[in-house]
Amino acid sequence: MDIITVKTRPFGDQRPGTSGLRKKVKVFQQPNYLENFVQSIFDALDDYRGQTLVLGGDGRYFNRPALQTILRLAAANGVGRVLVGQGGILSTPAASCVIRKYGACGGIILSASHNPGGPEADFGIKFNAANGGPAPEKTTQAIYRNSLEISRYRTAGGGEIDIDRLGAARVGDMAVEVIDAVTDYADMMQQLFDFELMRPLLSSGRLSLCFDAMNAVTGPYAREILLRRLGAPAASVIRDQPLEDFGGAHPDPNLAHAGDLVARMHSDAAPDLGAASDGDGDRNMILGNGFYVTPSDSLAVMAANAQLLPGYAAGLAGVARSMPTSRAVDRVAGELGIPCFETPTGWKFFGNLLDAGKITLCGEESFGTGSDHVREKDGLWAVLFWLNLLAVRGESVAQVVRAHWRRFGRNYYTRHDYEGLDTGAAAALMDALKAGLPQLAGQRFAAGEILQADDFSYRDPVDGSTSSGQGIRIMLAGEARIVLRLSGTGTSGATLRVYIEKLESDPALQGQDPQVALQDLIALADNIAGIGRHTGRSAPSVIT
Ligand code: G1P
Ligand code: ZN
Repeated sequence: MDIITVKTRPFGDQRPGTSGLRKKVKVFQQPNYLENFVQSIFDALDDYRGQTLVLGGDGRYFNRPALQTILRLAAANGVGRVLVGQGGILSTPAASCVIRKYGACGGIILSASHNPGGPEADFGIKFNAANGGPAPEKTTQAIYRNSLEISRYRTAGGGEIDIDRLGAARVGDMAVEVIDAVTDYADMMQQLFDFELMRPLLSSGRLSLCFDAMNAVTGPYAREILLRRLGAPAASVIRDQPLEDFGGAHPDPNLAHAGDLVARMHSDAAPDLGAASDGDGDRNMILGNGFYVTPSDSLAVMAANAQLLPGYAAGLAGVARSMPTSRAVDRVAGELGIPCFETPTGWKFFGNLLDAGKITLCGEESFGTGSDHVREKDGLWAVLFWLNLLAVRGESVAQVVRAHWRRFGRNYYTRHDYEGLDTGAAAALMDALKAGLPQLAGQRFAAGEILQADDFSYRDPVDGSTSSGQGIRIMLAGEARIVLRLSGTGTSGATLRVYIEKLESDPALQGQDPQVALQDLIALADNIAGIGRHTGRSAPSVIT
C-alpha cells in the first residue's frame, strides 16, 4: 500500500461541540479540512492499530466522498478492519449497536443530526468510543488540541471502495467489510420488545401508527422493523426514502418540522401512535391521537412503565436526565426508590453512568430517550417502547399520559429557542446573567420566589471529572424553574435556549396550554435575562 504523508496546517476552528464537529458542507469541502480532523482523531487514540473501526453516516450530502477519504486515512494509520454500513449508511444508534456487538475500538459517524443537509447546508463528524457512546470530553479535547497543532496527515493511495455491495474488500493491509446496516439493530430491538404481542395488533389495525422517517436515515430501519417484522400496513411509514438533502426539509422531529404528521394526528384519521425520528435516527417525537407528549414526559412515562416490557422486566437500576430536561422523571425515580442523576446537556455524559450500571434509562428534553441497550439515544427504540406499552396497557397515548400526571403531577414544560443571534450579543446576555446570579436568590416575583440560582457544574460520579459552565439554573418556589444556556450544535451565529418548567399537582389544573400555564415564568425569564434588550427579539424563533 502507498502511504502518503501530506503536509497540512491547522484550521483553528475544529473544536467538537455538544455532539462532534458540525460545520457547513462548504467548510468540510476545503482541502485538508476533513483529513486534518480525522488525523486528529487517530492521534488522540491509543489503541486502535490493528483493531476494528465502525464507519457510517446518516446519508446526507458529502457522506459518500467523506467516507472514502476516511477509509484511506484509516488504512494509512494502521486500522486493522473497518465495518462500513452498506451505502455508507448507519443510523447513530445502529452504529453504537454495531461497535458494541463486534468489539470495535470505536466508530466514526458522519452526521449533523437534525440539521438540514445539502451542498449549502450542514455536515458533521463524531467519534464514538469502544463502549459505543460519544467520545468523552477528555477525548474530544485531545482531538481539538491535536487539530490546533497538526502539521501532517497520513493517507493511502488507491481507488474507491464499492460501499454499496455487501462483502469484503481491502485498502492496502486494512480489511473493509460492507455490512447490512439494518439487521443487527433490528435483531436487538426484537430482543427488547414483545414482537409476538405487537404483530397481530399492528397487522390487524387494532393498533395503528404513523411513523415519519423525514426522508432521513430511519426509513430502511422502519421498513424492516415496523412493516416487515411487525406487519404494520405499508402506509404506516411516511417519507421513508433517505435523501441527501432530506427533501429540502429540516430533519428534526418536533411540532414545527413534522407538520404533515402533526396534522394527521389531529385529523379524524389519526392512528393510535404518531412518531418521527431525525436525520441520524437518534431523536424521537411521540404523539397520540390529538395529543403531544413532551420528551420529558415521555422519559418519565417510560421509567414508570418499563417493567411491563420484556427488556426491562427486571426493573431499573436508576435513571438520568440532562439538566434542562423537566424533573418529571425525578418524581418517578423517587417513588420507585431508584437514583436519578442530573447531567449536562449532551449524550456523552450518560456513558459512564450506563457503563457503570448506575442507570438503565436516560433522556433529554431535546427529543432524546435511550437505555443501556446502546450508548446513544435511540429514536426507533423509543417508538417501539411506546408501541409495546400501548399494546400491554390497551390504552391510548393520552390516557397513559393523563393517568401519569394524576399520579405524579404534571411538569408543565416548554423550550423557547432564539436562533441566529449575534454571537457577541448572546455572550453579553449570558455574561450579564452570570454576574447577576448572586443577587437573585430571595427575590420575589409574580411567578414566585427565587430559591436558588447557579451556573450548573457536574462532577461525574464514576470518573470524578468536572464539567462547569453548563447552563444557568433559576429555581423558584412551587418546583418551578428557568434554565438558560447557549447551544453547542449550531453552525452559524448563536442560539439561546430558554427552558421553563412548573409542577402542577392538582388534576383539575393539568389540562392547560403550557404557554398559558407558564406565562408568568416566561415573562420572568425575559425580565431577568433581558432577552429582548440584548437580542432585539420580541419572540422566540422556535417553541417546543
Ligand atoms: C442539542 C440538544 C442536546 C442534544 C444535542 C445533540 O444540543 O439541546 O440535548 O444532546 O443537540 O442532539 P445544543 O444545541 O442545545 O447544544
Ligand atoms: Zn440526531
